[in-house]
Amino acid sequence: MQRVNVGIVGLGNVGMGAIAVLTQNAKQIKEKLGFDLKIKFVCSRSVMSVELPAELKGVTKTADWREVVSSPDVDIVVELVGGTGVAKDIIQTAVKQRKSIVTANKELMALAGAELWDSAIKAGINLAMEASVAGGIPIHAVLREGISGDRVTTLLGILNGTSNFILTEIEKRRANFDEVLAEAQKLGYAEADPAADVDGYDARSKLAILAALAFGEKITPSDIYTEGIRRIQPIDFQYAHKLGHTIRLVCAAKQTADGLILSVRPALIPTSTILASVQGSYNAVWVRGKFGADTFYYGRGAGPHPTGVAVASDLMRVAREIRSGSPERVSPFAHPRLGEYKPIPVTSQKSAYYLRFRVVDRPGIIAALAKILADKKISLDAVLQLPSDSKDNLPFVITVEPTSEKSVRGALSEMSELDFMAEPPLAMPMELGL
Ligand SMILES: NC(=O)c1ccc[n+]([C@@H]2O[C@H](COP(=O)([O-])OP(=O)(O)OC[C@H]3O[C@@H](n4cnc5c(N)ncnc54)[C@H](OP(=O)(O)O)[C@@H]3O)[C@@H](O)[C@H]2O)c1
Repeated sequence: MQRVNVGIVGLGNVGMGAIAVLTQNAKQIKEKLGFDLKIKFVCSRSVMSVELPAELKGVTKTADWREVVSSPDVDIVVELVGGTGVAKDIIQTAVKQRKSIVTANKELMALAGAELWDSAIKAGINLAMEASVAGGIPIHAVLREGISGDRVTTLLGILNGTSNFILTEIEKRRANFDEVLAEAQKLGYAEADPAADVDGYDARSKLAILAALAFGEKITPSDIYTEGIRRIQPIDFQYAHKLGHTIRLVCAAKQTADGLILSVRPALIPTSTILASVQGSYNAVWVRGKFGADTFYYGRGAGPHPTGVAVASDLMRVAREIRSGSPERVSPFAHPRLGEYKPIPVTSQKSAYYLRFRVVDRPGIIAALAKILADKKISLDAVLQLPSDSKDNLPFVITVEPTSEKSVRGALSEMSELDFMAEPPLAMPMELGL
């Protein structure tokens, strides 16, 4: 085989980004591989109106993905359509045709990755998915190869660029959530329907994939406690700063004696940690191993070119394997269970917590809250109150020493019933051990 041929289905942000990288960097890619990686087919329903680079003059255009997947001229199918419908059909049909696959589809891989990998292994083909998490950071390669000899104990990530952009803008400018979201939508950083980003679902899919790779456990999105960033206010940053912390949407997978605790939620992290310096739309992943200690990975989480590099690099790796004969594979989603990494509910988590209240001011408020905490055997750490004009909606913060999330939730539900609460209390864990 003189060259390896590629068919790309999906010509949106990532598809066009991958095409730009593969065409503009074709000479160097060929030199690195020692053979040609050639785009033979491009496909989208509106393919005839898509402007392609001059280098792709001879490429076959089609609106029917089946033509790409069934063509004897295609060795690797690149699925960049997204979603869990057609994308799944494309991958399953490619597996049946025994063609290797490259995909950027986090949603599908988080939901059905284990099943798709099992069928790919049976068919003796490869399924590469580097671009599916943290676009520009080669985190799959790190977990599957770079540090695969270690035993991961904790993985923390900032995996949603839109949420991180919004939080860092609230932090910098003290603007409120709705205002920053509207701006992010205008700038094209946030979708018209921002729920997947700001409510944590996009990050949850990514954490499901990374935790599966890191712990060799079958993890589904429903194993992950998920809370978004809509309730974060500028005042929360002011209090967090007073405490030497900032706030990020943290994706966490932590091994405990009882099992694996998985969550996507806003959390306080010390400003002295490297994770706190992740600004704007950047992503980062922090992995702690039993033997190798801490490693940290940082880069662009999305965007046509960074994600295009991940797709191009996956294509190069898969093409090398095709040329040299595919090695035996083990699914990254399905190590035989060791048992110790079984997901357990987040309520088993022990952490310090930040509790923010908004109350109608009157005497005895702190005493009432302190009594509820004492009844639940939760030790109060600090009470903070910044000057405020508003007596009807007075914000203040209580931090508590490490305790179980179950106790904190019990206390919060009793506190919510108190007649002086102007809104339900907000609780965030404080990541102290970074
Ligand atoms: N955007 C990012 O930065 C980023 C980063 C990492 C991962 N991802 C993932 O990459 C994937 C693609 O994302 P994207 O942002 O590139 O999406 P996008 O811009 O919406 O592009 C999707 C493409 O798929 C085509 N398509 C849709 N249905 C099709 C069908 N039935 N047959 C053939 N083509 C079809 C669309 O064109 P037509 O409508 O003309 O068919 C379009 O070209 C998703 O899984 C996403 O989660 C994206």
